[in-house]
Amino acid sequence: MPKDIIIAIDGYSACGKSTTARLLAEKLEYVFIDSGAMYRATTLYFLQHKINFNRMDEVIKALENIHIHFEYNKETKRPDTYLNGEYVEEEIRSLAVSECVSEVSAISAVRRSMVAQQQMMGKNKRIVMDGRDIGTHVFPDAELKIFMTADLEVRVQRRVLELQQKGHTYIDPSEVRQNLLHRDYIDSHRTDSPLTKAADAIELDTTYYTIPEQVSIVYQWAMERIQGTTNGNL
Ligand code: DC
Repeated sequence: MPKDIIIAIDGYSACGKSTTARLLAEKLEYVFIDSGAMYRATTLYFLQHKINFNRMDEVIKALENIHIHFEYNKETKRPDTYLNGEYVEEEIRSLAVSECVSEVSAISAVRRSMVAQQQMMGKNKRIVMDGRDIGTHVFPDAELKIFMTADLEVRVQRRVLELQQKGHTYIDPSEVRQNLLHRDYIDSHRTDSPLTKAADAIELDTTYYTIPEQVSIVYQWAMERIQGTTNGNL
C-alpha cells in the first residue's frame, strides 16, 4: 500500500533545489513549498518598512504583520509568492533582497515563525519542501532527505542564466559569486539551525546533471519510499 511521505531537500544556494523540488512535486502530485521564498518575503517586508534587524522589538512586531501565502500559477506552473495579499514573486528575487536575506534568516524569532508555518503546511504529508534546515529542523522525521551540492562555478553560471532569462540585461558574474559565497557562509555558520547535511540525508552532487536527470534520480528515491521498497534513507 503506497504511503504519503514528506520530502526534504536542503543544500547551498543555486544548486537547483527549488527547480528539482518543484518538478518532483509535479510528478508526484504533491505540494511544493519553496521555504526560501518565505524568508525572502519577510526580508522584503523588513526592507519596505525599514525594520532595524538588530531591534528585536521591531522584528517581533513586524512578524505579527507578515502573512505569506502561495498561489499556483497555471501559466508558469509555479507557485507565486504573496506578501499580505500582494504579488511579490519577482521582487523577492531582486539583488536587494538577496543581499539581506541571510542576515534576516539568521534571526531566531524569524526562524521560529517560519518553521511553525512550514510544519503546519506539512501536517498532511504529500509535500516537497526545499531550504536549508528542512531535513535537520523543520521535518526531522521526513521519509526522504536529500542534500544537494554543485561546484561553485556551475552554480554561478546557473544563477546568471536564471537572471538573464528573467530579463536582467547586465549581470556581473563576480557579484553573483560574491552573493552566493556570502550567503553560503552565513547560512552554514549561524547559531540557529545552520545549514548542515542531516545524518540520514542522501547527498546529490548536481554538477554534471541536467535538470531532467536529477529529477529522475530523486523521483526514483521518492517512489522507493512511497511504495515501501526501501526502509528509511540510504
Ligand atoms: O533558497 P533561497 O536562496 O531562495 O533562500 C534564500 C535565503 O533564505 C537563504 O540564503 C537562506 C535562507 N533560508 C533559510 O535560512 N532556511 C530555509 N529553510 C530556506 C532559506
